[in-house]
Amino acid sequence: MKVLFTALKRTYKAAGYVCRRSSHAGSGPVLPLAGEVIVGSSRELVRGLGSQVEVRTSFITEEEEAAFLHELEPGLKKKRYEFDHWDDAIHGYRETERLRWGPTCEEILNRVRSVAFLDSSPLLGPVHVLDLDKTGYIKPHIDSVKFCGSTIAGLSLLSDSVMHLVKEDAPHEWVDLLLSRRSLYIMRDQARYNFTHEILKDEQSVFNGTRVPRQRRISVICRNRPV
Ligand code: OGA
Ligand code: MN
Repeated sequence: MKVLFTALKRTYKAAGYVCRRSSHAGSGPVLPLAGEVIVGSSRELVRGLGSQVEVRTSFITEEEEAAFLHELEPGLKKKRYEFDHWDDAIHGYRETERLRWGPTCEEILNRVRSVAFLDSSPLLGPVHVLDLDKTGYIKPHIDSVKFCGSTIAGLSLLSDSVMHLVKEDAPHEWVDLLLSRRSLYIMRDQARYNFTHEILKDEQSVFNGTRVPRQRRISVICRNRPV
């Protein structure tokens, strides 16, 4: 099986990270409503993005999560986590791509596809699986437009985490997504093309002032093809 995502398919943007830290002073984040899973640097930004960023909590059940683990763990266990490539977009990870799934996982993936993509949108065949160690994290990057189309949809298994988006040409504009265990996130259009995204490391994993401890996290990601 070919594993190419890290080397070829992400453009690592170091700048987004630095800017976020300095931009918090002065204008605090917009307070979320109870149970809210998206906050940003301004209400207008979050409202303007609308359905271009979505988080659906409890998208899968515990049994469905277990079905993914059952299917993925044997293959993942044979690989070692990569920690050494400092120029990679990801630190502390192993990954794979999978085309054929057992019936339970296939049914779940069809649910993901039906909520995230238009019927007319051709998808990348293999689904991408990324296993982040507890100490692993994803640095700010934008998925390569050569390999991936307008929409990215990911299931989060085993751990809660925080995804941080920063507008590439206006780094004081940012959005945080609370990706709870078993949730589905969807990024499309502007949110996918004009914002870097990252998964925060455990020490920095905070959503709207509340700490979100990071454990090992596996994501199962569907993408469409570039047009
Ligand atoms: C990626 C990525 C996010 C995730 O692999 O390019 O941004 O949810 N992954 O693992
Ligand atoms: Mn990405």
